[in-house]
Amino acid sequence: MRLLRALLLPPFLALCLGAHAAEADLDNGKEINGTCAACHGADGKGGKHGEYPRLAGQHAKYIEYTLKSFRARERVNIPMFPYTQERELSDQDIRDVSAYLAAIELPTTLPKFKDSDDALTRLTAMQRVMLIPRVEGDIAAGEAVYRERCATCHGDTGLGKRLIPMITGQYPNYLMRQMELFRAAERPHDVEKAGEGVLKDLTPDALQNILAYLTTLQNLKDKE
Ligand code: HEC
Ligand code: HEC
Repeated sequence: MRLLRALLLPPFLALCLGAHAAEADLDNGKEINGTCAACHGADGKGGKHGEYPRLAGQHAKYIEYTLKSFRARERVNIPMFPYTQERELSDQDIRDVSAYLAAIELPTTLPKFKDSDDALTRLTAMQRVMLIPRVEGDIAAGEAVYRERCATCHGDTGLGKRLIPMITGQYPNYLMRQMELFRAAERPHDVEKAGEGVLKDLTPDALQNILAYLTTLQNLKDKE
């Protein structure tokens, strides 16, 4: 498809289009998401208890930035590396698939059904529900640390903004793995120097408490 498009467009036209392509092409994003779906699910819901993170509703700017860091091998992701190679994902493709995923809204509560809804309609709607089960931990202690050290960037309810990822509604296993990578200086977090910063001196228990607190925040968006 991409190859075909490249052959059909005269080079100067392709250049002009490239230069002015301010809008993301959601149809192209959807098509690209077909390859992502094998691991992250068609709705970007992720899976396998966080082996594959949720992408639906994550901020487009953050997804874009992350895909570029996978491509440049700045953030190591071995399963995904082949999918992000230059030939496979151009900057435009990255923008399109990021916008497509960011726009997917997953409900946190079960939908209300009409008597006329058939079994398949019900099943499909129920499969979209994204509610992370509560995890163990001291919620009050987690809240205290979260408010003191995390909320300034990730927001009062963990929804993040632009380049700061949404961490509420994400799999705790995935988040814990990332926090371990941050602490082991294998992925940079809030400061240039990997391994430094707000997560450095938090114990595994403190991190677990934060995760327990985050799982209590999931329905806040619906209530607003
Ligand atoms: C072969 C499986 C696989 C495929 C296909 C795949 N991914 Fe991933 N992806 C992963 C895994 C595993 C991780 C988690 C890596 C980690 O733990 O650091 C991940 C992480 C991510 C992240 C980071 C999420 C975050 O919160 O930081 C983004 C963004 C992402 N993938 C986007 C995509 C997109 C877009 C595609 C399609 C172009 C795609 N992935 C295809 C396996 C896959
Ligand atoms: C100064 C701003 C800032 C503060 C404070 C901050 N973060 Fe972050 N956090 C970020 C940014 C930016 C990223 C994305 C890092 C990247 O991929 O380059 C991030 C990423 C994360 C991720 C990975 C999410 C994902 O999808 O991969 C987790 C987990 C996380 N932060 C937890 C925390 C916790 C817990 C705290 C408080 C103890 C905290 N952060 C405080 C800015 C911040």
